[in-house]
Amino acid sequence: MGYSAAAIAEAARVITAGGIVAVPTETVYGLAADATDGAAVARIYAAKGRPSFNPLIVHVLDQEAAEALAEFDDDARALAAAYWPGPLTLVLPLHAGTAIAALVTAGLPTVAIRVPDHRAMRSLLQATGKPLAAPSANRSGGISPTRAEHVAASLSSAVPLILDDGPTRAGLESTIVHGRTILRPGPITAEQVTAALTGNPLPGTGRDPAAPGTRDRPTAPGQLLSHYAPTKPLRLDAIDAASDEWLIGFSPIAGDDSLSPTGDPVEAAANLFSALHRADASTRPRIAVAPIPPTGIGEAINDRLRRAAHD
Ligand code: TXA
Ligand code: MG
Repeated sequence: MGYSAAAIAEAARVITAGGIVAVPTETVYGLAADATDGAAVARIYAAKGRPSFNPLIVHVLDQEAAEALAEFDDDARALAAAYWPGPLTLVLPLHAGTAIAALVTAGLPTVAIRVPDHRAMRSLLQATGKPLAAPSANRSGGISPTRAEHVAASLSSAVPLILDDGPTRAGLESTIVHGRTILRPGPITAEQVTAALTGNPLPGTGRDPAAPGTRDRPTAPGQLLSHYAPTKPLRLDAIDAASDEWLIGFSPIAGDDSLSPTGDPVEAAANLFSALHRADASTRPRIAVAPIPPTGIGEAINDRLRRAAHD
């Protein structure tokens, strides 16, 4: 269903009734449900085939709504002020007694929150008046969807309503920050995180003993190493292709397809998942990818590629 006031109203009706809706954000398409409705959240896990220990990101309209759910310190406020709305997720202590379903946080004392910057997700938040839990709208372990067609191909009948508002802008999932640690690199680069924190005094103690990861639970998607895997073997840093390989290029390497013919890493990030989807759909049994400089957003691109290459 294309983006329109009527489509948002229908999507809000589905969410309010405890259903799930695929909706674009500025990063990737998400699979959204009311974060305060445990049964609705369970439908997300079921549709994705996701292991239930992997917690979900909660999307809210603004800082005020975020502060109602979680505890902000000076660092978190500085990051939110600099990059919200936008592709940044903060892992913060969850306030006691909020209505967030336990299934959203998978029992962790923290919650991952972000304020998205996309008209479809924002209209849906406005129309429902609820915090929306939304992981990427792909089957668990699959490639994140940057177009409505990717969602349809990956989840098809499991998702009755897909809001189609064209390809997503950033093309990579949000940067996840816990304290001063980047748990998942993304469109907000390490340099940008550091810039927002400059001027805040260093916290006296180093590590938060209550931080997730001190137990046998994943702290970040990085722990599921093959999280972003296409179905075919993938070779990194390829400067040319074998005859059975589909080569994804990046200037100056042309390839069968190119992440960016001009060598622009931001364009490459936006194209990455589409290129992996095309490579998976090609007739060749293997995928090779040209080297991407590991600086700026190139760090996030290489992170996703390493996961995609891991089997
Ligand atoms: O750009 C994005 O972040 C997209 C769009 C839809 O917003 N969402 C997304 O969600 O990528 P998902 O569920 O595919 O990835 C969220 C990751 C999870 O893999 C999980 O490990 C991590 O965030 N996460 C969630 N809650 C956490 C917590 N309390 N502590 C540490 N990591 C957490
Ligand atoms: Mg995902």
